[in-house]
Amino acid sequence: MANTALGRLAGKRAIVTGAGSGIGRASAQLFAAEGARVLAADTNATAVAETVAAISKAGGTAQAAEADAGAEDHVKSLVARARGLGWARRILRKRRHQRRPRPAL
Ligand SMILES: NC(=O)c1ccc[n+]([C@@H]2O[C@H](COP(=O)([O-])OP(=O)(O)OC[C@H]3O[C@@H](n4cnc5c(N)ncnc54)[C@H](O)[C@@H]3O)[C@@H](O)[C@H]2O)c1
Repeated sequence: MANTALGRLAGKRAIVTGAGSGIGRASAQLFAAEGARVLAADTNATAVAETVAAISKAGGTAQAAEADAGAEDHVKSLVARARGLGWARRILRKRRHQRRPRPAL
């Protein structure tokens, strides 16, 4: 799937955890193909690098991060990195008590 500036996620940013395999990798690839800039994170650095390589080869924009989504300090580092890249405005979160996702940052 080719990346396009006219994709449904053009101009948006996403942090995808578990992006080294399976659902996370597929999500990262789909988001990038739809125009999002993706910070792809996984505990498996080799696997997530492969995801980013596949996204780049397809014309998308992504960076890899080795991070454990269950570790608060790792998640904070991911958010800080996204902020540093200027990628922070479109990241969404959803909590159980929220009816709609809100910007995380
Ligand atoms: N595949 C399915 O059809 C399906 C259906 C329902 C639920 N699930 C659940 O969804 C989850 C993902 O499934 P999958 O098939 O994509 O699995 P997968 O094993 O292919 O991919 C999981 C990825 O997450 C990474 N990962 C694991 N723990 C991590 C952590 N703490 N922080 C960052 N990265 C981490 C792994 O290194 C791996 O790259 C699993 O919990 C699975 O049980 C899968």
